Amino acid sequence: MITKPTPLKQLPPDLDRERLPKHVAVIMDGNGRWAQRRGMPRIMGHRRGVDALKDLLRCCKDWGIEALTVYAFSSENWGRPLEEVNFLMTLFERMLRQELKEMMEENVQIHFVGNLEALPQSLQEEIERSTAATKDNEQIKFTIATNYGGRQEIVQACRAIAEQVRDGRLDPEAIDEAVFERHLYTSHLGDPDLLIRTSGEMRISNFLLWQVAYSEFYITDTLWPDFDRQAFHRALQVYQQRHRRFGKL
Ligand code: IPE
Ligand code: IPE
Ligand code: MG
Repeated sequence: MITKPTPLKQLPPDLDRERLPKHVAVIMDGNGRWAQRRGMPRIMGHRRGVDALKDLLRCCKDWGIEALTVYAFSSENWGRPLEEVNFLMTLFERMLRQELKEMMEENVQIHFVGNLEALPQSLQEEIERSTAATKDNEQIKFTIATNYGGRQEIVQACRAIAEQVRDGRLDPEAIDEAVFERHLYTSHLGDPDLLIRTSGEMRISNFLLWQVAYSEFYITDTLWPDFDRQAFHRALQVYQQRHRRFGKL
């Protein structure tokens, strides 16, 4: 009898596949320091960061994780030197163009969250193209937060809800957590089960403020370009040792 290979075949045997996080979110931090420690310009760290991201996406897919959400550019990152900002915008665009074929083959559904209208026009077009092309893919939801700010996301949700109330389309009494969530950028996703931050910083930096209410946090000193399958394995081991109580006993 021929048995079909399972997509989880490479899951390390010490991990319990029933208790894997369904949704992993990552603050990919430390690219600049990675490069500076090697005497290279910061942008080299961003370039290597893309390789680390491609590896993690493949790994999540191989191990059966349903959703991966990554913080690529915050609403505050515009405050960096113009050359670095321009390099990042070009890097995102090139990555999308180069990886679309593989995303299709690998059955990845791409989403972008953030204030996308402020991104360069050519990047917006690439975003539209890749989200439209992958919309029926179903192996993993891959969400990239670009020009994303958690506070800004909450404010725009409030504005959208207020407009509906003003126009008589929504009763204020009907506003509950579920209604609010539908107005967040992440309405296609559940909350992250596990939030990873690399480079040792103990802060949230305006990422997914609403959504991480009960996420497990894992912070590692590893810099993002060095975050490999082994590092992810370690994060999942730690996650599986946690006892999630959600306020109960
Ligand atoms: C994260 O790495 C990537 C982005 C914010 C775009 P950094 O660029 O923040 O790297 P460090 O934190 O300065 O080392
Ligand atoms: C958070 O990293 C944003 C991304 C990883 C895209 P930052 O490097 O911008 O955050 P801070 O400045 O350390 O808080
Ligand atoms: Mg940083």
